[in-house]
Amino acid sequence: MTIDTSSLSRRGLIRTAGKVTAAAALTAPFRGVGVGVGGVAWAASSPKTYRKWIYAKPMADNKLTLDQFKMVEEPMPDVPQGKCLIEVKVLNIHSGTRSRLGGQTKLGDTDKSNYACARVIKSRDKSFKEGDIIACQAGWQTHQVISSEDESIGYGPANEMTIALNGTKSHWNYVFRPQMVKMWSPEILMDVFGTSGTTAYFGMRECGPIMPTDQVAVAGTTGSVGALAAQLVKARGAYCVGFGGGPERAKWCVDTLGVDKGLDYRAKDLDAQLKAAFPKGIDVYSDGVGGSLSESIAKLMNPNSRYFSYGTAAAYYDENPAQVVGRNAGRLFGMSDSVEKIIKEKNIKLEAWIVHVFYYDRLKCEDDLSHLLLNKQIKSINNVVEGFENAPKGIISQYTDNPYGKLQLKFA
Ligand SMILES: NC(=O)c1ccc[n+]([C@@H]2O[C@H](COP(=O)([O-])OP(=O)(O)OC[C@H]3O[C@@H](n4cnc5c(N)ncnc54)[C@H](OP(=O)(O)O)[C@@H]3O)[C@@H](O)[C@H]2O)c1
Repeated sequence: MTIDTSSLSRRGLIRTAGKVTAAAALTAPFRGVGVGVGGVAWAASSPKTYRKWIYAKPMADNKLTLDQFKMVEEPMPDVPQGKCLIEVKVLNIHSGTRSRLGGQTKLGDTDKSNYACARVIKSRDKSFKEGDIIACQAGWQTHQVISSEDESIGYGPANEMTIALNGTKSHWNYVFRPQMVKMWSPEILMDVFGTSGTTAYFGMRECGPIMPTDQVAVAGTTGSVGALAAQLVKARGAYCVGFGGGPERAKWCVDTLGVDKGLDYRAKDLDAQLKAAFPKGIDVYSDGVGGSLSESIAKLMNPNSRYFSYGTAAAYYDENPAQVVGRNAGRLFGMSDSVEKIIKEKNIKLEAWIVHVFYYDRLKCEDDLSHLLLNKQIKSINNVVEGFENAPKGIISQYTDNPYGKLQLKFA
């Protein structure tokens, strides 16, 4: 049985419509609502121990269950010179989490690659001071020692401009401006101003300017990046078609995001529906999924159109996930030979990158997205699972309950 976790709004900014199983809903408190303007009070705390979830048992048949997780409690670590201790507030759960288990995330380890909003509670690190609210990468844990000098976070060292902006050696590791912390909750900092929103923003910017006459297809519309990309397209007044897995999710794209049409990407007559939805062809395609949907859409793209390829969700959610091996960025994101051929033949402009390449321009992005949020032209779509003890249920729900938008764990 599934239930709807309601569409609530606070100060007209945020709503969500996540679906969780009834059993999970009783125990895992999906808040189903984001926090709007005004940020939060950041209480200090100094416990003697911290808690961590580890990957404790291999999966059978790629099915993630509670058995895979074990909670451990450890003494609070010392803070060596050059490092700081953070308290994790919000952790974004990535669709690639399951595919990391057993590979990058070894048995007995926590998954270290989660984008997080945290508060610095003790610092011997020159770039972070006590009380700072930062973006960083964290494990499934309440506290962690990190360093601004850590170059290993994400996809390699930061470029010079980002180092100058962040004052750290990583793209992903930086202090949020106090104005941003005053204005926005940690959930919104991690969603709209985290990798989801910034990917959508830079993707649509690089495929832009999006003109009111543009015919735009946004795949992954019910997911975290696509939901924001679709709203950015609508904010520019262009015609936009979104996609969901099933008729209900397709309808959600229209009702919640305001796109012009929502199509069920699983429909048997999808090709015919696409043709009907795009009588003038497609000028811009935002593709976070790859796979068969992208094959169908690419065929309808106009000469000299723009293609933004950033992700491979179709592979992540497949019951037998393909091993995605990157030959180039497009291939890494699930682009097939036939799609590459169409891109070449039709002289389509291809944008395919990891978002950090634009992080030197992050402040402009934050300003623009803040204005769009304040003007109610976009909203954050997030599903928040509250409580450290509920983390495994939340992570599992990413694959069983298909929460709309960004799935987030809130620890403090
Ligand atoms: N390049 C970058 O810098 C960057 C940044 C962020 C994310 N990413 C990548 O972008 C991808 C999407 O991320 P996300 O956070 O938006 O994911 P997400 O929130 O998990 O959403 C996934 C979306 O994909 C759709 N989907 C799943 N299987 C599909 C299929 N077979 N065909 C078509 N659509 C399908 C889902 O639709 P339903 O749920 O309705 O079925 C949902 O809308 C991931 O691969 C992620 O790693 C890249």
